[in-house]
Amino acid sequence: MTFFSIIKNKLLYKTLSLKIVIILSLIITLNNSNSKEFKKDGEKLFKLHCSACHSVKRGEKDKVGPNLYGVYGSTAGTQSYSFQRRYSSSIKQSNVVWDTKSLDLFLKNPRDFIPKTKMTFVGLRKISDRTSLIKYLRSLNQ
Ligand code: HEC
Repeated sequence: MTFFSIIKNKLLYKTLSLKIVIILSLIITLNNSNSKEFKKDGEKLFKLHCSACHSVKRGEKDKVGPNLYGVYGSTAGTQSYSFQRRYSSSIKQSNVVWDTKSLDLFLKNPRDFIPKTKMTFVGLRKISDRTSLIKYLRSLNQ
């Protein structure tokens, strides 16, 4: 290798790694802003569709439905201690754990997923709305 080709290789290496760093940071920023967007949308959707029946802040009173703080990851019908007597027996006996998949099915059509649930909500048709809402619910206790 001549002196010049070594220099050339080093330069090439530097520009390449710089490009990789730029691309990686772009991907990270995009990903972050994406999930922030999702959360913000989720909060709006929650206010629109859910807040009439659900509170979300820790320790806040139940409304028509249970308080949802920490609902993500919990077993259906157990999350709100003060709502224990008001949960339907069908949700209590469902043995569902609230994760992305089960919440998606429930929010799409509550009565299809848990027959005889007391949640009288028609459901959210748009998958992007459900995804945003689930991200929002998940962010509550993180
Ligand atoms: C008309 C009132 C009402 C609306 C609107 C409503 N819910 Fe509910 N929700 C309830 C009731 C009542 C329950 C308890 C269901 C049962 O006991 O079967 C419930 C239960 C739940 C549960 C299960 C809680 C647990 O502890 O297992 C989740 C999650 C939930 N709702 C999310 C939502 C989301 C998200 C929205 C908005 C898209 C929404 N709900 C809209 C009344 C409502």
